[in-house]
Amino acid sequence: MMRTHRCGELRIENVGETVILTGWVNRRREHGEHLAFVDVRDHTGITQCVVDNAVDVRAEYVVKITGTVVERVEGTANDDLPTGAIEIKECDVEVLSIAEPPPFPMDDRADQVDELVRLRHRYVDLRRVRMQRNLRIRSSVNAAIRSAMFNQEFVEVETPMLMPSTPEGAREFLVPSRQKPGNFYALPQSPQLYKQLLMVGGLDRYFQIARCLRDEDLRADRQYEFMQLDMEMSFVDVDDVLSAVEVGVLDAAEAVTGVRPDTVERMTWRDAMERFGIDKPDLRFGMELVELTSVFAETGFKAFSSAAAIKAIKVDQGADEYGRNKLDGLTDEAKSFGAKGMVWLKVRESEAGGLEFESPVAKFLSAEETAAIVTATEAVAGDLVLIIADDWLTTCEVLGELRNRIGRPPVSEGPYKYLWVTDFPLFVGIDATTGQPKTGHHPFCQPHPDDLDKLESDPMSVRAQAYDLVLNGWELGSGSIRIHDPVLQRRVFELLGINEEEANRRFGFFLEPFKYGAPPHGGFAFGIDRLTAILAGEENIREVIAFPKPQSGLDPMTNAPTEVDASVLEEVGIRVLPPTL
Ligand code: AMO
Repeated sequence: MMRTHRCGELRIENVGETVILTGWVNRRREHGEHLAFVDVRDHTGITQCVVDNAVDVRAEYVVKITGTVVERVEGTANDDLPTGAIEIKECDVEVLSIAEPPPFPMDDRADQVDELVRLRHRYVDLRRVRMQRNLRIRSSVNAAIRSAMFNQEFVEVETPMLMPSTPEGAREFLVPSRQKPGNFYALPQSPQLYKQLLMVGGLDRYFQIARCLRDEDLRADRQYEFMQLDMEMSFVDVDDVLSAVEVGVLDAAEAVTGVRPDTVERMTWRDAMERFGIDKPDLRFGMELVELTSVFAETGFKAFSSAAAIKAIKVDQGADEYGRNKLDGLTDEAKSFGAKGMVWLKVRESEAGGLEFESPVAKFLSAEETAAIVTATEAVAGDLVLIIADDWLTTCEVLGELRNRIGRPPVSEGPYKYLWVTDFPLFVGIDATTGQPKTGHHPFCQPHPDDLDKLESDPMSVRAQAYDLVLNGWELGSGSIRIHDPVLQRRVFELLGINEEEANRRFGFFLEPFKYGAPPHGGFAFGIDRLTAILAGEENIREVIAFPKPQSGLDPMTNAPTEVDASVLEEVGIRVLPPTL
């Protein structure tokens, strides 16, 4: 037997037993002339072993220790350690592997180490409590999702990793073909096309814990490779899809936190934008957008009179906290988000006992207008009011960004606020070069049935049967009911300026199957990395991925991407150009 117990298991009840532990030497401390304390560690914890110091064991050596469990001498018990009441004596130590000194400390101090050093030695980093915990949380999330899907009669199907390039969405990773030099497969950005074909194929309910690849700039919530819980269902409406997804997400949350979230709120996209200025509102805090457009209907203040929408947010007791520099910084941020400017107003108590206002534009606002701002925002003395005036979307979006900047708590702060955002617009904006509408998601989203008659006459007002799941301000996932009727699909393509020939060229292999009897269907996909990160209280999905890429995308451990031999390139018909400067 290699071991009798794990390093975190032994308790006072085990006193007197002969045990064998295996693991890494966490620390060695000399204890008098002959003895050393050797703390041995595995993923379950640490046990203190009292060892004859003749043995050469150092930090991170892999050892097998046989000995007897004894109660620690009175006054030396360690209450911070679950095994702190006991230690192992009369130890026989076998060194299974020697180790060089680790490149960084194995405790919390490693969190301060340059991330590239951690990733360069990820196999060492993974031994730490934080990483062990995160990867085990991830495993529980996967297990819970998988069983939630099986319980709902979903069928797990693997879809291809090598597929044709499809010119939409993010940039693809390409794989050169040896059989057809000069031609390429693309790695899947998601199994979207295949899962819809599985519905045409009669699978009825499909799911996959799917690896997806997108060549986009890496950020805290983005990796080149990431995992989705991907699902698709036939003969369903929006509610059917949302409830099936909820079971998976809430089961996963319960498996990790021990508490089942009791509600997933719902909000239309329009309401989310009106109230929070963003399509992924963080509901852990208030600071909702306040409507002021009607207050300034007759205003003489130029910046407001010409604006289609005027809204504000109120920073409770922010008047003193936000001095001139900070306000200038916020104004610059508002401009970088697309605003022409930002008006700020500090509410103060006047000497007469009423309220007065400190603002660079105070003199342009009438007493009625300032009074109406106070009423609408429910401001009191000490509050700061930030106002944006622009077109409706810009006003909402800029305030949404400012609200997040000012009020958003760190990821590790509870509670968990799950939210469905529904009824996204079918089209977002007009393409500047073609003059045609642009799709919000992809061209296969089913328009809202109540809006079908406006498709040609007022396309920008048409809602899609598309929905996102949001958790604490992160977009966890998105999905839609799909178009299954080729005639409707053609109408949408026409609006997008895609004629039949182009549609066949770009999506032909996907469109043809719909001629052979497609069931009404819809689906969803959510990011497992993102869900795990939030449940683990991590700000960056890299912390819940065993071998992630750093921001640069270049792997410091394997050095990927690397050059390959000219002969290999020759085989796939590729010649590398000199780097452009
Ligand atoms: P979408 O593109 O919105 O939808 O992706 C779904 C979810 O996948 C996660 N995600 C990512 N996670 C980490 N790194 C990335 N680079 C990354 N990109 C996306 C997010 C996101 O919400 N086929 C559709 C779904 C459908 O309609 O059924 C799709 O892929 O959590």
